[in-house]
Amino acid sequence: MGAFDALHNRSLTDPEGFWAEAAGAITWTRRWDAVLDASNPPFVRWFSGAELNTAYNALDRHVEAGRGDQAALIYESPVTGRSEVISFRALTDRVARLAGALRALGVEKGDRVIVYMPMVPQAVEAMLACARLGAVHSVVFGGFAPNELATRIDDAKPKAVLSASCGIEPGRTVAYKPMLDLAIAQARHKPSACVILQRPERSCDLTAGRDHDWGDVTARAAPVEPVPVAATDPLYILYTSGTTGQPKGIVRDNGGHAVALAWTMRDFYGMRPGEVFWTASDVGWVVGHSYIVYAPLIYGCSSVLFEGKPVGTPDAGVYWRVIRDHGVAALFTAPTAFRAIRKEDPDGRLIGRYDIKSLRALFLAGERSDPETINWAVDKLAIPVVDHWWQTETGWVIAGNPLGVERFPLKPGSATRPMCGWDIKALDANGQEVPRGDVGALVAKLPMPPGTFPTLWRAPDRYRQAYFTEFPGYYKTGDAGYVDEDGYVHVMTRVDDVINVAGHRLSTGAIEEVLAGHPDVAECAVIGVADPLKGMLPLGFLVLKAGVDRPEAEIAAEVVQRVRDRIGPVAAFKTAVVVDRLPKTRSGKILRGTMKKIADAEPAKTPATIDDPAILDEVAEALQRVGYARAG
Ligand code: COA
Ligand code: AMP
Repeated sequence: MGAFDALHNRSLTDPEGFWAEAAGAITWTRRWDAVLDASNPPFVRWFSGAELNTAYNALDRHVEAGRGDQAALIYESPVTGRSEVISFRALTDRVARLAGALRALGVEKGDRVIVYMPMVPQAVEAMLACARLGAVHSVVFGGFAPNELATRIDDAKPKAVLSASCGIEPGRTVAYKPMLDLAIAQARHKPSACVILQRPERSCDLTAGRDHDWGDVTARAAPVEPVPVAATDPLYILYTSGTTGQPKGIVRDNGGHAVALAWTMRDFYGMRPGEVFWTASDVGWVVGHSYIVYAPLIYGCSSVLFEGKPVGTPDAGVYWRVIRDHGVAALFTAPTAFRAIRKEDPDGRLIGRYDIKSLRALFLAGERSDPETINWAVDKLAIPVVDHWWQTETGWVIAGNPLGVERFPLKPGSATRPMCGWDIKALDANGQEVPRGDVGALVAKLPMPPGTFPTLWRAPDRYRQAYFTEFPGYYKTGDAGYVDEDGYVHVMTRVDDVINVAGHRLSTGAIEEVLAGHPDVAECAVIGVADPLKGMLPLGFLVLKAGVDRPEAEIAAEVVQRVRDRIGPVAAFKTAVVVDRLPKTRSGKILRGTMKKIADAEPAKTPATIDDPAILDEVAEALQRVGYARAG
């Protein structure tokens, strides 16, 4: 048995021994009573009885251990031309002061705080300041519209919101403050305080009595000490798309999270404390939570915080420049970023302009890595390229190539092997395991390892119903795929209406709700169509109300704007077509899968249950009008 197989076996046969050992990497203020409490399935508690502070583990303890002068955050902002290195000592001090400012505004252990910020160091400080106080942060990605922010405010009921005057997208500033004001006006719950970072690129007015200037409150604040919390207390809530417009509040605990992330840094990513880790994502996504903020800092690595894009800021060489300038050892990003770079620089000429020999490995996740992208990266970088599969729910890798333990041969298109703690199977509709190589619903045998999601925020029934009911004894990942004869996991597609656009997770159901609200729309359907850059793009079909005879282009433009206003630019919803009818089964179910195949010009069998096959020709004709459904 190889080194990894032995480790993986142990993690499944003796999970308590395995994770108790991994917990040695964390500093606790009280030891646990039980490593694993699985007495109330599917709700599982790791390290119950233990206490710790996650921010202390990410900051102070490294200063105490002599890493005070080491870079904790390396801020690289090609969109503003700024660059800043913040040591562990300085970051600890800034976080302690911000925590003091929050406490002065009434935020205490257990209170929620929403963070709606661009990719600036203060966003990381905001998260860690909450963790220091034992408050629960909920970061909302800046590309979401006020409506989405309002939904999250109403669900999380934050005492305070931390935000900034603006974000910066290539060629424009994005005014955050008016969006925040609109969201608070729209929300039923009203936070009592907002702390606003004024950025020089665009400042904003503050609302008297509610808003506070970031610089002022932190200058006045007394630093606070880390507050010990229970290992099972929530560290954060991160909302993600579900099957309806109501996002799911994924809860992460403190103890299991710290243990699992520290374990991944060594055994999965193969990092050593003191090295530079760079995750090119956004703190608004789970990848950013885990691998820009918590994992690298808890483990004692320096983390790069990048405010820019893989191309156009200023060019497709910016990744290589940052790697060279800071001696980055591992880069983690989404395949779409590499597709963007490859499109601009197909021969990889810009790579050759920089000395990037510090880079040992590339990690890709967030969407399926297409073999062409993997092969291009392997060819141009000549380092191990790792596709790894995970989800907001799991918080860390489910399947991948564990470079820190053993490197398995690459199979482009596969995420390699289930990681420690994960027992992955492909099941048929009756819950029976399908033969190796056959596609089924991908599930994980319970209990899930530490660091995943113990519940959904104030929605335990939805937690049980959405993830644990269909296949008793298993966590339903929502992905379909297969496990091959070598035990490699191949993740092929979602089984629900979640789509992945440029590595961002969206719900077609949520977009449909927005389209359905247009006064001229009687019925609609949204599908994810293949896109060479973003992996997928959403596309809407509209059936208009009787008597509406306005031009299609006019209505399409209105619904596009509506999605931008209600969900946000991140949805990248740019195309809608009008059809007379939607193809449905005789029982009335919309045949979205068949529509997607037509759009992608894939062979589509006419489903036997279809109500009227002629509608498929109408669908193809409508798609052709907007450039889809053409083979070749
Ligand atoms: N605040 C406000 N608006 C934002 C935003 C933010 N934080 N992030 C993105 N947007 C806007 C963009 O400006 C764009 O608006 P537009 O329609 O007016 O052009 C829209 O949302 C879509 O953004 P994005 O997905 O970034 O697409 P893009 O076309 O600007 O760039 C890529 C394409 C491939 C370069 C980009 O998607 C990318 O870098 N992807 C990396 C993937 C990634 O980080 N995934 C995270 C999970 S690991
Ligand atoms: P998110 O919750 O935003 O991280 O999105 C999770 C979803 O992205 C998963 O359920 C998958 O559908 C998809 N995904 C993430 N990583 C991979 C991968 N390496 N291969 C295939 N799909 C992936």
